[in-house]
Amino acid sequence: MINTKLPLLDLHRHLDGNVRAETILDLGQKFNMPLPALDVEGLRPHVQVIDNAPNLMAFLAKLDWGVKVLGDYDACRRIAVENVEDAMAQNMDYTELRFSPYYMAKTHNLHPQGVVEAVVDGIKAATRGLDIQVNLIGIMSRTFGVEKCQYELDALLAFKNDLVAVDLAGDEIGFPGALFIDHFKQVRDAYLGATIHAGEAEGASSIWQAINELGATRIGHGVKAIEDPKLMDYLRDNRIGIESCLTSNLQTSTVASIETHPLKQFLDHGILATINTDDPAVQGVELDNEFEKAAPLAGLSESDILQAQKNAIEIAFLSDSDKQALL
Ligand code: ADE
Ligand code: ZN
Repeated sequence: MINTKLPLLDLHRHLDGNVRAETILDLGQKFNMPLPALDVEGLRPHVQVIDNAPNLMAFLAKLDWGVKVLGDYDACRRIAVENVEDAMAQNMDYTELRFSPYYMAKTHNLHPQGVVEAVVDGIKAATRGLDIQVNLIGIMSRTFGVEKCQYELDALLAFKNDLVAVDLAGDEIGFPGALFIDHFKQVRDAYLGATIHAGEAEGASSIWQAINELGATRIGHGVKAIEDPKLMDYLRDNRIGIESCLTSNLQTSTVASIETHPLKQFLDHGILATINTDDPAVQGVELDNEFEKAAPLAGLSESDILQAQKNAIEIAFLSDSDKQALL
């Protein structure tokens, strides 16, 4: 159960992995895209995981239509606004929305910097006057290679004051963290936080690498940390946050079942692990499902869930005074 005395946070949520099927249809028609179906029910299997995917890349393919239909900057702004509406509908107090401007820009040859501007503008407009706080995390999509990631990072750094951190997402096996050491030096030089997808498709060594060579203070997924007792201790002792995404990890076949997910062991070990979504529209489940259904299945008691909520406040990319203001 969500403890409603504490604020509700989602720290790992992809804006471009949360495009509504209705919006994909609408934008697809607007930009004359040959969509695989002309109604929501027909489109669903193309944009949502129905049966668990065999691996991460098969899961990620389901995100593609959501960005292919982004025919102009207004469309990018629209999905940013709709993401705020979706977070509000979940009664969130604070969320960090992450997005990859190059992935969003690619199909229609938009400029990634224009995409960042549109997303920033959409988030600011949509949150004005509302009781929700949203911060943005820029993503480098490693799937497109080292040079495209530099191009993407340049666009993100042009708006560094509108971001709290930079992430590395996409094909973890094909593009290991070692390729992005220079990129993350630039991230740190810009005084931005670093959270990195690691230990999802790859092993525990990818988590060590993200921390030691790229400067990550938070790890997206981090499931494979369970295989390395020294790493478990290191994560706890150095207060490295783990952004767990239970249903996502099942749907990418990172774990065999929710029941065997290591989140409970992370919490028992004193690691700052948290409960998050990942790509809600693609997964077909929202944050309430992760708290109400997935977390109990993973063996979390009410006090474990409470601890995960406290951990989220602790590891959020917020100043101490902003954290206080949430309480
Ligand atoms: N992009 C969106 N979801 C992702 C995930 N679970 N892993 C890596 N990259 C992603
Ligand atoms: Zn993710």
